[in-house]
Amino acid sequence: MIKLAPSILAADFSALGSEIQAIDSSGADLVHIDVMDGHFVPNLTLGPDIIRAIRPYTRLCFDVHLMIAEPQRYISSFAAAGADILTVQAEACTHLHRTVQEIKAAGLKAGVALNPATPLSVLDHILEDIDLVLLMSVNPGFGGQSFIPAVMGKIKALRRTLDTLDRRIDLEVDGGIKLSNVREVVEAGANVIVAGSALFKTGGLRDNVERFRSETGS
Ligand code: DX5
Ligand code: ZN
Repeated sequence: MIKLAPSILAADFSALGSEIQAIDSSGADLVHIDVMDGHFVPNLTLGPDIIRAIRPYTRLCFDVHLMIAEPQRYISSFAAAGADILTVQAEACTHLHRTVQEIKAAGLKAGVALNPATPLSVLDHILEDIDLVLLMSVNPGFGGQSFIPAVMGKIKALRRTLDTLDRRIDLEVDGGIKLSNVREVVEAGANVIVAGSALFKTGGLRDNVERFRSETGS
């Protein structure tokens, strides 16, 4: 089962409520929400108040991707705002294990994201504790970038590791995924696909979700 997570970074920010409703009725599985702080990444987006404001527009899972420094400071704020999954960048966490425990203690699913150049070995001693790994296939900060080909091998290697575990951990891939490469990303082993510009920028969202589904046989 492949899950599709439209990234609202590519949505119309002046009409977020109706954009969330459109995601809800498009047949997508999650709402991917990119939080950027201008420190960890060179861009600024949105925070807990916006998430709280859009929460009533859908019952879909809010998949919140924190591209922020010191994410442990904001766990309770994002939990209160309505996040369901909270994913932190491994590179932003001095005490990754503690941060993951705090996310779970707040009642949320915990994810760890890795930048393209961050090795999978960072996960060695945390994998058993988390619900999701997010492999970045662009350098985080902006939508509309090109998929970095070297990440394909990383997805395959992580899939091999995850398949040896008893527990199911989602393998999410984020950045530069389009109709032309989504099948390859899924065949490499991803089961959660984030897409922003490919779903929002050309054509209708519902049609694009449908095309992604038929391309991945999901
Ligand atoms: C990048 C974000 C992505 C981004 C993906 O920093 O984490 O979620 O919105 O956008 P596209 O699909 O346009 O690469
Ligand atoms: Zn993201």
